[in-house]
Amino acid sequence: MADQFEVSDTYGHFIDGEMQPADGGTFETIDPATEVPIAEVAAGNANDVDDAVADSIAALDEWQKMPPAERGRIVSAIAEAIQADEDRLAYIETLDSGKPLSQALTDVRRCARYFEYYAGVADKIHGDSIPRTREYVDYTVREPLGVTAHIVPWNFPIGILGRGIAPALVTGNVAIAKPAEQTPLTAVEVAKLAVDVGLPPGVLNVITGFGPDAGEPLVTHPDVEGITFTGSVETGRQIAKQASEKLAHVHLELGGKNANVIFPDADLDDAIENTVRSIFSRNTGQVCTSGSRAIVHQSIHDEFIEQLARHTDELTIGPGVENPDVGPLASAAQFEKVTKYIDIGRAEASDPVIGGSIPDRKGYFVEPTVFTDVNPEARIAREEIFGPVLVVITFSDEREALAIANESDYGLVAGVFTSDIGKAHRFARDVDAGQVYINEWFASGIETPFGGYKQSGLGRAKGLEALREYTQVKTICARIDD
Ligand code: NAI
Ligand code: MG
Repeated sequence: MADQFEVSDTYGHFIDGEMQPADGGTFETIDPATEVPIAEVAAGNANDVDDAVADSIAALDEWQKMPPAERGRIVSAIAEAIQADEDRLAYIETLDSGKPLSQALTDVRRCARYFEYYAGVADKIHGDSIPRTREYVDYTVREPLGVTAHIVPWNFPIGILGRGIAPALVTGNVAIAKPAEQTPLTAVEVAKLAVDVGLPPGVLNVITGFGPDAGEPLVTHPDVEGITFTGSVETGRQIAKQASEKLAHVHLELGGKNANVIFPDADLDDAIENTVRSIFSRNTGQVCTSGSRAIVHQSIHDEFIEQLARHTDELTIGPGVENPDVGPLASAAQFEKVTKYIDIGRAEASDPVIGGSIPDRKGYFVEPTVFTDVNPEARIAREEIFGPVLVVITFSDEREALAIANESDYGLVAGVFTSDIGKAHRFARDVDAGQVYINEWFASGIETPFGGYKQSGLGRAKGLEALREYTQVKTICARIDD
């Protein structure tokens, strides 16, 4: 399968239904498994953003006036087109991001599912009728924001693209995506497919390039009314400030340092299998919802580590095209960050009990690594590492487990493994997190609302809840009687 697909060696912005040649220079996107460039990509600037926004505005009227069912049909066709092209898209995603092919395929299918799910909602977005007195008729309508910007990260390029674009389009918005500079290719591919199956040109545009040069002018553009951002807390905070200047709607999905609490009454095999998936064998731990803090009862700690080591040992590491369990990190910068944290961990905790070394090969590979008996105050226990590095902390009773889980600036997701239903739901009730997994990590779907408490974000993606991020409510109040 590896060499089955030709990948273009040039990618431009996608504006008005066409790939535009770069006029402000180009950059190379790299295959992180080999460190070899894949393609030359347009490096967007403020002029490109102005062109894209002007084109989006021109497309807005037709798209908003289209009957909702017709918008739904087009969005549904996009889902089918993505699905029909899933192997090629997955291959491109693997080359660009490093992730194993089977995982890239899962992401492509998830992207298609977002378009499919929201397509069905297009003609079911109702307002309310509000009873007051007989003299008035009051009702609300949900209207689109207008031009929406979607700043997409490199960990789930095609998945997160679909997560924001699909609900934005079905609610009558037009969208401009700015994929991450590390992984720009599939966004352009999806926009092309969308226009091929009938999306009017300009309804979905793509600007490729770097954050400060291409992302920032898009965020600060006066005609961009909604901003959806997924990425680091630092950039998210800056974007929120910029959005507040023009009072644009902002939706942020930021990082996590998620608590994975394992009680002694849990099915330990299950808990361990899930722990491995939560931090190692799903996108090499580069997941905002990774189970990066295992909070394990002291009575099962030794057995937990022993079995975890056995499972981790079985993981295969290699280039994404060989479909291993663990691929390379997505970029040189992420490799530097993760290896720096492994050094910090050695200094502030102790040597890792599992892994910790860097495979001697080309590419941004890091071994799955576990630190144990980590002080909850340590940097490796508090800061998002975003790689295959697990921190294990022990606890002695339920109250302490909850306190450790909540001792975080983040609050994205949390998980609990126990056979006691009451204990599971007490944890779910009391933990500060936007989503809680019981007895399975990553138990959620595209239908289930998702977003962060505390520093992990603002607003909600996925499910019907996401529609609120892309609509504003108008209330109409009519006096009909004296
Ligand atoms: P980042 O937040 O800087 O980049 C994410 C996206 O924002 C990219 O498309 C980038 O081009 C864009 N961007 C950057 N600066 C911008 C600006 N001033 N205006 C508009 N757009 C801008 O994150 P980065 O540097 O790629 O990764 C750093 C860390 O962030 C990771 O190690 C990880 O901890 C976290 N992260 C979290 C993600 C999540 O899923 N919540 C995804 C990616 C990164
Ligand atoms: Mg790349």
